[in-house]
Amino acid sequence: MGFFSGKVVLITGASSGIGKATALALAQQGATVGLMARRQEELEKIASQMGGKGIVLVADITDEIAVQHKINELVGITGGLDILVAAAGISLRAPFAETTTATIRRVMEVNYMGTIHVTKAALPHIKERKGSLVAVSSLTGRQAAPEYSVYGSTKFAIQGLFDALRMEMLRDGVHVGVFSPGFVDTPLRYSVLKGNGLVHETPPVPPLRLWPVETCVKKILNMIRKRKTVATLPGFVRYLFALNDLLLPGWVGDCYLRYKFGYLRRNR
Ligand SMILES: NC(=O)c1ccc[n+]([C@@H]2O[C@H](COP(=O)([O-])OP(=O)(O)OC[C@H]3O[C@@H](n4cnc5c(N)ncnc54)[C@H](OP(=O)(O)O)[C@@H]3O)[C@@H](O)[C@H]2O)c1
Repeated sequence: MGFFSGKVVLITGASSGIGKATALALAQQGATVGLMARRQEELEKIASQMGGKGIVLVADITDEIAVQHKINELVGITGGLDILVAAAGISLRAPFAETTTATIRRVMEVNYMGTIHVTKAALPHIKERKGSLVAVSSLTGRQAAPEYSVYGSTKFAIQGLFDALRMEMLRDGVHVGVFSPGFVDTPLRYSVLKGNGLVHETPPVPPLRLWPVETCVKKILNMIRKRKTVATLPGFVRYLFALNDLLLPGWVGDCYLRYKFGYLRRNR
C-alpha cells in the first residue's frame, strides 16, 4: 500500500492546472480527494476520471462560510481530513503604478484571504490526524520581480503565514510546507489580469523557463511524503536567493530580473 492510499486530501483550485493534475495523481495513488473550485462542470468531469475517489465541493474560496460548509461536508462523508493542498489562485502582471486598488483587493482576497479561509477550516481536522498543510505559492513570494508587486505580495503573505503556522503546529505534529514554482504551463497563462482587473488580451510571455505541470505534481507529492517545509521549482533557485542576499544584497538578483523583465534601462 502506498503512502497516499486511504488518505483524505482537500485540493483547492482543483478544476484546472496544478490543482487538477495533483488531484488526479493523488486519486491514482489511492487517496480520496475533495475537489474545491467554483466551476462545477469542470470538477464533475475531473471527478468522473477518478473512479469514485473524487468528491466535488463547489465553493468560492473568498466566501468563508461556503468554504467552512464544504469542508464540513467532506469530513462528514470521509470521516476526516489528512492533507490540504491550497492551490487556488489568480494571477496579475502589471506595473504597480498602473494597478487599481480594486484589482489589488481582488487578488489579495482570492490568493491570501482565500488561503486563510481554507486553512482555518481545514486545520482542526488535519490536526486530529497529524497531517499536512501545503500552500502553492510562487517564486515571486520568495523574490520580488518587476510587475509582480501585487501578485508577489499575496504570495509573500502566504509564505509568512505558513512559516509561522509551521512553528505553531510543530508540537501538534502537523506538517506545514510551501511550494514555490516559477512559471508553469497551465491555463493560468491565459487569464493573467492587467492592472485594471481585465485579462491581458495577449498573454504576457514568460521571461523565464516554463515548467510542465507534471514536475509540480512530483514536487508537491514528494513534499507531503517527506514532510518537507520548502520546495521550489527549479530546486537550485533557493540557494541562489540565499547567495544573492548574503554576498551582494539585492544587486545581482535585481539586475538579472530587471534585464529579464525589460526594466534595465531608465525611462526617458
Ligand atoms: N501557472 C504558473 O505559472 C504559476 C506559477 C507560480 C505559482 N502558481 C500558483 O499555482 C496555483 C495554481 O495555479 P495554476 O497555474 O494551476 O492556475 P489555473 O490553471 O488558472 O487554476 C487556478 C485554480 O484556482 C481556482 N480559483 C481561482 N479563483 C478561485 C476562487 N475565487 N474560488 C475558488 N477557486 C478559485 C480555479 O478554479 P475556478 O475558476 O473553477 O474557481 C482553478 O481551479 C495558484 O495559486 C498560482 O498562483 C502558478
